[in-house]
Amino acid sequence: MHEDFFPHGIVILTGAGISKESGIDTFRDPDGLWSRVNLEDVATIEAWHRDKKKVLDFYNEARGLFRAAHVTPNAAHDALARLEKEYAGEVTIVTQNIDPLHEMAGSRNVLHMHGRDGEIRCMACSTVFTSEMDLSPDSVCPNCKAVGELRPNIVWFGEQPMHLDEIYAALDRCGLFIAIGTSGEVYPAAGFVLHVRRRARVRAVELNLGPTDNQSLFHEHIYGPATRIVPPYIERVLAGEWNRPEW
Ligand code: APR
Repeated sequence: MHEDFFPHGIVILTGAGISKESGIDTFRDPDGLWSRVNLEDVATIEAWHRDKKKVLDFYNEARGLFRAAHVTPNAAHDALARLEKEYAGEVTIVTQNIDPLHEMAGSRNVLHMHGRDGEIRCMACSTVFTSEMDLSPDSVCPNCKAVGELRPNIVWFGEQPMHLDEIYAALDRCGLFIAIGTSGEVYPAAGFVLHVRRRARVRAVELNLGPTDNQSLFHEHIYGPATRIVPPYIERVLAGEWNRPEW
């Protein structure tokens, strides 16, 4: 290990691509969710006000798919959990995914910026609770008893992502920023790499199936399926290879 070594924080931004090999479709790939469903019909607050049943049916079905697939973490999720356990410094996963695969793999410091599957929020009283129940426009809030105000606690287009203060604080402390399996098309997550690059001595690495629109902002790119490229890259990180004076 280099003598100047000290444990810089590491932030890993994950997107749908890391869960693809666990059987969960991405959004913008040719076979992705948004090629089959019009996102304006199901993933905006306007859609909710226009047709609650359509929006809720979509998420009821999506949750069913998660369960039906009996999804389990893959080698990429496992490698990140190992990193958190073995690395001497702070490791923060910022995920755009609503699936529980990082936690299932054993990661603890996970910020779900777009919400979590299985959480429900009441639009009337803001109560958030965990439940696997299907929602309908007739569902009743267990707290305030409002009817038709329950929705999945996930972030729709046009809404403010969650945990942003914590996320930017972690970004400002990190020495290594890794983006895995995200197309870089949705902000603010797509802007995190630019945010960290404003500081000197931050290394930014992209791991993805192929190049993204943000690729020029990263120092290093590793292309391939996440299960194949993430574990060996994490080995390199644990060996301290990224933390060298030449960058
Ligand atoms: N391994 C690594 N990367 C992969 C794999 C794989 N096996 N399969 C696909 N990818 C890559 C694709 O090349 C693409 O760049 O993962 C990326 C997935 O991009 P998106 O479908 O746009 O997913 P994401 O970036 O997570 O979307 C962001 O958009 O609709 C919203 O709220 C939703 O959180 C989501 C946000």
